[in-house]
Amino acid sequence: MSSRGVWDTRIVILGPPGSGKGTNARIISGIYGIPVITTGDMLREAVASGTEKGRTAGAYMDRGELVPDEIVIGIVEERLARSDIARGFILDGFPRNLAQAEALDRVLDDLGTGLTHVLNMVIDNEKIISRLVLRRSCPSCGAIYHLKNKPPRVDGVCDECGSELIQRSDDNAEVMRHRLEVYLEKSRPLLNRYRKQGLVRDLDGDLPMEEIPEAVRRVLSDSKG
Ligand code: AP5
Repeated sequence: MSSRGVWDTRIVILGPPGSGKGTNARIISGIYGIPVITTGDMLREAVASGTEKGRTAGAYMDRGELVPDEIVIGIVEERLARSDIARGFILDGFPRNLAQAEALDRVLDDLGTGLTHVLNMVIDNEKIISRLVLRRSCPSCGAIYHLKNKPPRVDGVCDECGSELIQRSDDNAEVMRHRLEVYLEKSRPLLNRYRKQGLVRDLDGDLPMEEIPEAVRRVLSDSKG
């Protein structure tokens, strides 16, 4: 662990769809007690609530496109204004392009702080499709399962909150391929920006589940400052 302490840990997790961003974010949150801010889940909540913003977002998500910046940035700005981020946070799925990265810099500048780590999830592209086909998600608490690698204890039911598990509507082969293309074109270039700032740490996205906690502890002990 760095001399900063975990209370000073502000993480962005970058990686292609299905690389384990959400899975690792939840493990880090469990270890360090800092909140996960998952833009995909927040947008899915907006879609479920049927608001105009949600309807607009849903149309982009169903195609595997990025939701317009003005919607996503607004959601993240509101979330980062809450007091529970005082000891740190994990951003899962944001930023995803240069405009979002610049907006995040501005928000953190205003808070008088900055990122401590950018975790880059590393995984072979071929693995992604098989992973996402077998993923099941909890629409209530956001828990993530995999029918082979991390099955729920009771078929179709969330271990954590008892809700019925779902398969995401964007987890079909055609949309998955497009999500990967969008990642390569729009999001992966952010790694260069963050590498220049000395923030990027690679994390193997295909570790056996039981090895993840030790791996994230190791990676997070190596911080910029
Ligand atoms: P989002 O929900 O962020 O989807 P994504 O980036 O495509 O990533 P995923 O959630 O699919 O995968 P993940 O990397 O979290 O992997 P997971 O841990 O679940 O975004 C969805 C959509 O919302 C976007 O397409 C866009 O439209 C919109 N959106 C979101 N943010 C936006 C933004 N900032 N700007 C604009 N639009 C935005 O793992 C996958 C599976 O693998 C699971 O089943 C899991 O159990 C399994 N698994 C994980 N790790 C392992 C392991 N080590 N070994 C074996 N299995 C594993």
